[in-house]
Formats: sequence, C-alpha cells, structure tokens
Amino acid sequence: MNGFNHHAMLPDPTHDEQSRQDFVGALRGHLSSRLMPGAYKVYASKVEPAFKAKHGRAPADQEEVRKVMTQDPFYQFWSAMQRRSQEMLWESVIDPTERQLPDLIGKARKIGRKARGKLRLDPKLEIPRYHRAADIHLQPGGYHTDFTADDIAAGAVYDKGINLYMGGGLGPENDLTGNTLLAYVREKHPGFEPKRILDIGCAIGNSTLVWARAFPKAEVHGIDVGAPVLRYAHARAETLGVKVDFSQQNAEHTDFADGSFDLVLSHITLHETSRSALPRILGECRRLLRKGGMTLHLEIPRGRTAMEKFMHNWEAYNNNETFSRFMTDIDLIAEAVRGGFAKSEVKTADFVPQLDVAQMNYTEYFAWKILEGVRR
Ligand SMILES: C[S@@+](CC[C@H](N)C(=O)[O-])C[C@H]1O[C@@H](n2cnc3c(N)ncnc32)[C@H](O)[C@@H]1O
Repeated sequence: MNGFNHHAMLPDPTHDEQSRQDFVGALRGHLSSRLMPGAYKVYASKVEPAFKAKHGRAPADQEEVRKVMTQDPFYQFWSAMQRRSQEMLWESVIDPTERQLPDLIGKARKIGRKARGKLRLDPKLEIPRYHRAADIHLQPGGYHTDFTADDIAAGAVYDKGINLYMGGGLGPENDLTGNTLLAYVREKHPGFEPKRILDIGCAIGNSTLVWARAFPKAEVHGIDVGAPVLRYAHARAETLGVKVDFSQQNAEHTDFADGSFDLVLSHITLHETSRSALPRILGECRRLLRKGGMTLHLEIPRGRTAMEKFMHNWEAYNNNETFSRFMTDIDLIAEAVRGGFAKSEVKTADFVPQLDVAQMNYTEYFAWKILEGVRR
C-alpha cells in the first residue's frame, strides 16, 4: 500500500488481511494529518485563552497543558481514536503472522543454517524491568516474549507494525532512523570510515543494515535484549543479503572488549530504557569506544512549546512509552557525563531529516535530537 518492500521473512497477508492493514494505515494517516492538527487549533483558540482568563498567564509547562487539554472533547476524541487505532494495528498484523508462524520459523531456521552473519542468544539474560513492566507501544509481549520455540513473531509483527504505525514514513525498509543518522555523519564527519560498528537496541536490524551497506568493509554488530526480534533480524538481514552479527545482550553491560568499536549507535532506543539505565548505557558506549571513536544516539523529537511537548508525550501516557516522557526535557549531556564522559567529549544537535516529512503525515515541528560523544 505504501511502497513498503516485501521480503521473505514478512508474512503474506490474504486479500482481506491486506485490506484490514490498508484500512488501519489510512485511519492512522487520517488521524495524524487531519485530526491531530485540530488539537493545536482547539488549544490556540479555546483552551489556552480560557486558561489565560482564569490564571492571568499561559500554561507554564506541559503538565499544566495536560490538565486542561485532557478535559477538552475534541482532544479526547482524537486521543481515543489514536489509542484504538494502535490496538487495531497490532490486531491487523498479528493474525497473518500467527497463521504463517510455523512456516516463518522454519524459513528462519533454514536461512540460519547457511548464514554469513552470526546469531548469539543468551537464554539466561535478565530482561530489564523497563521491558517486563509494560508492553511498549502496546505490542503484546513486547520485543522479548517467546510464545513458542525459536519464535520470530515479535520481529515479524514489529516489522509490518511500525510500517503502519508511521503510515509508511519510515521508508521501504523501515530505515528512516538509520538513514537520518547516516546523513548526519556524512554531513558532520565526512570521510569517517569506521571498521567496527555496534548498533544497540537494534530490534529487527532495520537501522543496522543501513550502516552495514554504507560501510561494506566494516564488521557490524547489532544487540538487543529481545530474542524473537533478533532471530527475525538475523533471518531478515540474510534474506536481504547483508552480513551482520547479532547477539542478545543488555546495552547496560555487554561482553565486548574495552575499546573494541569505532562507532557505537542507537536509534530511537534510549527513550525505551529507564532513568537509571540511561547513564549506564552511555557509560558502556564510552567503554566500548577506541580512542577517537564515536557514539551517536538518535532520539525522538521533543517539541519546542509546552503544547508541542504535551502532544509529543501522548505516546508516554497512552501507548506505554512510559520513560519517554522524561525525554522531552532530559539533559542528554548531563546523562552522558553521569555515565563517564567528559563534558568536552559530548554535544547534542537538533537534526531535521532531509526526507519529506509530509510523507509521514506529520504536521508538527519535527527534529530529531542527536547525542554525539567522541572518546578522547
Ligand atoms: C524502538 S526499538 C528500536 C528501533 C530500531 N533501533 C530502529 O532504528 O527503528 C528499541 C529496541 O531497543 C531494545 N532495547 C531497549 N533497552 C535495551 C537494552 N538495555 N539493551 C539492549 N536492547 C535494548 C528493545 O528491545 C527494542 O528492540
């Protein structure tokens, strides 16, 4: 429906399943492009003036905006529809995945036997509480739950699910975040040629493959806490002809040697961790860098005004992105320093993607937050 590339590990929807997915994709596009802007209009024309009349000032922060906006009927309608569309999204991708699961698992096993990249799982790995406590994005079982032996369902469901989630805006291989960070490197660090690259929180490897293709001589690793997304990532990468070594590890403490990477990356992952994990992960990134090596983290847009921050944080309050609500204000440099970086080694940037944001049906101001650290 939206220029999404089919590949061997994606379930094949039946005609009716495809129609259902198309409907959910269109509904989400309608909600974000047609209805969501209405919330900003309601705020500017009604909610903020009423607040000002009562308090003699505008709402000071997103919490004050939240108190009044969540009482507004238009916002309530959009929010309820948005939440329901998220549930419908998973329903529409889970059915075809469940129907074909034995075949897909068989395919992944077969691909694994001839693979060029490695897959290393650790059944003893303790899944962090920030993943066990709630299903992030409402995806049943999250990224880590195995429902059957050698399960890949979480990966298959996530792959098609995020395509619908962003109305196709993540690109034909769900690789917008990887391409955006790569564009940042090309612009700010032309000539940088990493030989060993690590992508943390790689999920299905959608961003990892961007780096493996951009630096074909490099050894590329992807780690994640979720076994089913990694099995899927491994089979997907092989099927797309790209060699990546995947391993199941917690980015707070990996088993890689000190100074063993030139580039350590994360793409929209930090906001799905926790207050205490964040500095630990950044400290681990520093430990893994050789001298002169670089770590880059692409994070979700934050919004500029109290109203934008409130709207960006819809996901935190309604879609189990619980920790992400801190991300609208968190000082990433301070977190990196808590993790062990010197202040002079880290900086942040706002990076507006060159890609056509209109294609994502987003009407808000959209700039990624990038944290860059260089080990000196
Ligand atoms: C939003 S998804 C990643 C998306 C992907 N990187 C991309 O560019 O689209 C976040 C991933 O981070 C993983 N993750 C979260 N905390 C982690 C940790 N402490 N160690 C390793 N992986 C982690 C989750 O399991 C999940 O697969």
